[in-house]
Amino acid sequence: MYDLLVIGGGPGGYNAASKAAAKGLKTCVVEKRALGGVCLNEGCIPTKTLLYSAKIYDYAKHSKDYGVTFTGASLDHAAIIDRKNKVVKTLVSGVAAQMKAGKIDVVTETAKILGKKGDAFQVQAGEQVLEAARLLICAGSEPTLPPIDGLFDSLKSGFALTNREILDLKEVPKKLAVVGGGVIGLEFTSYFNSIGTEVTVLEMLDHIAGPTEREISNLLQKEYASRGVNFLLGAQVTSIKDGKVAYKLNGEDKTVEADKVLVSIGRRASTKDLGLENIGVLTERGAIVTDEYMKTNVPGVYAAGDVNGKIMLAHTAYREGEVAVENMTGGHERVNYNAIPSVIYTNPEVASVGETTESAKEKNLNTKIKTVSLRYSGRYLAENEGGKGILKMVLDAEHETVLGVHIYGSYASEMIYGAAMMVDRKMRAKDVQKCVFPHPTVCEVIREAVF
Ligand code: NAI
Repeated sequence: MYDLLVIGGGPGGYNAASKAAAKGLKTCVVEKRALGGVCLNEGCIPTKTLLYSAKIYDYAKHSKDYGVTFTGASLDHAAIIDRKNKVVKTLVSGVAAQMKAGKIDVVTETAKILGKKGDAFQVQAGEQVLEAARLLICAGSEPTLPPIDGLFDSLKSGFALTNREILDLKEVPKKLAVVGGGVIGLEFTSYFNSIGTEVTVLEMLDHIAGPTEREISNLLQKEYASRGVNFLLGAQVTSIKDGKVAYKLNGEDKTVEADKVLVSIGRRASTKDLGLENIGVLTERGAIVTDEYMKTNVPGVYAAGDVNGKIMLAHTAYREGEVAVENMTGGHERVNYNAIPSVIYTNPEVASVGETTESAKEKNLNTKIKTVSLRYSGRYLAENEGGKGILKMVLDAEHETVLGVHIYGSYASEMIYGAAMMVDRKMRAKDVQKCVFPHPTVCEVIREAVF
């Protein structure tokens, strides 16, 4: 019998398994597809590999702005996909090696919880029935696919794609329609726009990038519109078929033609067929209900990552998995959901943590907003001809505690962890003022914002 059986080998699962094994728990991971989950195989890592190639291509196209001329820069999409596959393979085998080093059993099967016998949870995994004293469910999420007319046939025919299939497109589509202007939609918009595809984004809301600080999502939209992306906001998609996406805009029926359609309208927890009902695990709108200690309503059963529907980000899953392992081994830890950074890997990047101007207003918080142009940074100016980057800081008006930081521009993704620490540690402007920032760097604008 195992001390811990982890269902799902994505970032939540494999990291938690490693931590559990290091604490001496006899651990098993059951994964139905590939170790690394969506993040390594069809999410974070493959998209970042593609986007880096697009960035190099963009640099080449705009090198003249920096006094360098390339003649004949060209792009080989197939070679980019090959490189992406190589990067994924390296990382997935790294996770396998990590499991082996921790003496963690990995079973490549679909897990289904059968019930409890005495002290043991029983889990079907292919032909075997595995037994464990505790369960950690990290089964992740899958794309939301609403009953839009023609969508299921279009997915079958390959006209419509999710984030999984689009990563292996052999040919670059001339015209791509992106349904959903959230994180996935925008990252693929960025890639395909860079490599010459005509992209139309159909977004149901009146703005892109969901809960992102509104001034920043507006800047991002303006930037991509200037590069030729067509944004249709307030668009209600009514059908996806025959090379067309039909939508309603301001009461009028319209269509947009496309060679391919990416459907990226959100994700939902993967809880179907896990057998949760066999041990009575509570779900709400399809996601497993957990408290902040990652406990479900069933003693000994924990859930971490997208499957609990809290914040669907790989780094949240890492932390939640660790918290679950701490708590099942006598600890009493929680996740601080107020200080989870998020990034949209467009070019320029968007990185955020904590309260936005809009969320603070909704909560009636008394705040002070500081906005600084990234052009205050010498390094930003040197590296971003015509750059329009900004940093916004949301401070509590009375004590000047840092409540949120939002950055639009180069290196935003690498700077945001510092801001997340400020939010997590409830630092005040005066505390940050005493920190020394390296010069010349873009992060110096954080210092600029606190004076
Ligand atoms: P999302 O929630 O970020 O965006 C979905 C968008 O689709 C929203 O703007 C929504 O208003 C719109 N929408 C919903 N129904 C629609 C309809 N019928 N027609 C038109 N628009 C519609 O979801 P997305 O982009 O699919 O990403 C899924 C998850 O993956 C998110 O939780 C995201 O945080 C995560 N992710 C994170 C990344 C990162 O951290 N860089 C990268 C990619 C995904």
